[in-house]
Amino acid sequence: MPSPISRLVTFCLLTASLAWPIGATAQAPGDWFTMNKDYSSQRYVALDQITPANVGSMKEVCEVRLDEPGTAIFTSDLLMIGRTLYVNTFRAVYAIDATDCTLRWRYVIAFKGPSTQPSGHESRYIHPSSRGSGYWDGKIFFGTGDGQLIALDAATGKPVWDVVNATGHGETFISTPIAWDGKVFIGIGVSDEGIRGRFMAFDASSGKELWRFYTIPLGNEPGADTWHNPPSIPPAGGGFWASSSLDPATGEVFAPAANPYPDYLPGQRLGADLYTNSVLSLGANSGQLNWYYQGIPNDQHDWDLGTSPILYTARNGSRMLAIAGKNGLVYGLDRATHELVFATPGTTRANDGLYGTTPILVCPGTLGGAEWNGTAYSPDTGMLYTGMVDWCWYYAQFPTAKGHRGTPIWNFSVPPRGQITAIDGANGNIEWQYHTAAPVVAGLVPTRSGLLFGGDVRGNLLALDARTGAVLDRIDAGGALNNGLISYAVDDTQYVAAAVGGAALNTAGVAGPLRVSIFGLHGSDTPRIVRLDPLPRLGATPAEQAIDTYFSACSDCHGNDAQGKTYPSLERQTQLAGNPAALKAFLAYVPPPMPRLYPGLLSDEDVRLIAQRLKTLLTPPSATQPAPAAEPAPPPRP
Ligand code: HEC
Repeated sequence: MPSPISRLVTFCLLTASLAWPIGATAQAPGDWFTMNKDYSSQRYVALDQITPANVGSMKEVCEVRLDEPGTAIFTSDLLMIGRTLYVNTFRAVYAIDATDCTLRWRYVIAFKGPSTQPSGHESRYIHPSSRGSGYWDGKIFFGTGDGQLIALDAATGKPVWDVVNATGHGETFISTPIAWDGKVFIGIGVSDEGIRGRFMAFDASSGKELWRFYTIPLGNEPGADTWHNPPSIPPAGGGFWASSSLDPATGEVFAPAANPYPDYLPGQRLGADLYTNSVLSLGANSGQLNWYYQGIPNDQHDWDLGTSPILYTARNGSRMLAIAGKNGLVYGLDRATHELVFATPGTTRANDGLYGTTPILVCPGTLGGAEWNGTAYSPDTGMLYTGMVDWCWYYAQFPTAKGHRGTPIWNFSVPPRGQITAIDGANGNIEWQYHTAAPVVAGLVPTRSGLLFGGDVRGNLLALDARTGAVLDRIDAGGALNNGLISYAVDDTQYVAAAVGGAALNTAGVAGPLRVSIFGLHGSDTPRIVRLDPLPRLGATPAEQAIDTYFSACSDCHGNDAQGKTYPSLERQTQLAGNPAALKAFLAYVPPPMPRLYPGLLSDEDVRLIAQRLKTLLTPPSATQPAPAAEPAPPPRP
């Protein structure tokens, strides 16, 4: 389907694409051609125009509003190639001028993946989110919610190829690909749907799959003997949330496989469960396993070691790999010996053992610690920088018909906060720590001038002193920073760009409209605002539109069937079913940590459709249920 963009924007697009050579500047040192800038994933930029002395005068230059009805989850990375930014939503990919926010093109995904999802899924997609794209040789590569892998011409947005890779049963692409030497590398997710994780290489020019490595070994495969489950619970999990890294010198691709499934099964899932929560070194050409490190064996807290691994040479000359997990630790590994050099906490850690029938407070909880953007590294300071979510949850295990099942209990009495920690990259010593008002899931960016850019989900864009952690500047970005945060230079001018708005699973208040904002020293209080024609609503019929709007705005947190998922079931709230006025009032006054989605992000029509959907989900089909046996009422007491 061609994207219906405004006439004005179409005009800009035509003139811009003629005057703008992309291949020539591809993979220049200032470019971000992976979600973490380059194959090392250090996220460091060798730029020094914005400095500790002048960062206080940085202001917004422009923003482009991504007007998508109903899209609430926005966790994309940003790429910057030549002079173009690329950003993904669940529904589309946008190419934006990196200096003035003019839209170059918008590609709208045509969903066509398998329609057989696990029972209860009426949608064809598993998660309404995308972490972004990878780039190689004039092409943009990304995975989709229905399991397609797509290549676009980076200059025009025209499709080059697409392949459907998912089998249906819970498989989806959220993670971000990287591409190198004619190959695209990406892992399928998600563990928590019970998939058998796999990491794959595809031919960058045709989309043909070249190899796959299953993260869950079966039968006689090496590692299968580390699973000790009851036969009724087969080994599963090991999916991918973030991006991989690569060493072009050794031809190793480093892939982070996440948690085992079922997520919480103390006393029944008894082994180390290889290769879950492991960083894998795979041959980029062969797909063969060279070596691995399992950070969190027998995970019972859904503590994915799922962030992007980073490669760096420490001050003492060691070739290192660092990876951070949702258990709040940053692991430093020596790549020559594969030995663990340090495991340093980047947030509160307590009670990490197994849990019993009395709830205990465990830190971090399921949605604490390091999420998709693990760490950054500055060769100038020799420090690793990690942003984390400081949030403890309760855990208990209860007897059920299927044996004891573990249950996480989110902890709303102490809402989530965040931390940024600087760690000596050679020995793991903590250099400084800064507590943020809200969770930090956006990427950190150390610069040559000694700045560290960061942000939290309450919309604070922060500039810290990279050596001391002192806050030098704080800008209200107007919405959550959930992932993409980068700095780059075009025509000798340094910029900072952020994906702003929307929600992620980690939440503490502000959602705001989806946009990409660009900041610079020449910004102003009246930045240029680029508006696009709204995307057409997902779903052809009103009933499908209601399903899809609920799906993209609510299901990631409350479940496709509203029976609860990461957050509570909505079944108590039947008064909201079919009642847009009540739902609007609820959404406008809901206490944190549920994000404020209305007003600001969702439109009145979105809310009407969601209320409509809740009518189906929350009203029990009473007509088809037998009436309960009538007991005579007891006589009134005298
Ligand atoms: C980012 C995650 C997230 C998203 C997205 C989200 N919610 Fe929530 N929601 C929460 C959290 C967390 C709570 C619990 C808040 C509390 O109890 O303090 C909650 C609570 C609720 C409750 C109250 C449940 C009860 O019985 O206590 C309702 C109703 C609700 N949400 C409706 C919605 C609807 C409708 C949508 C989609 C428009 C939505 N939520 C989207 C996280 C989310």
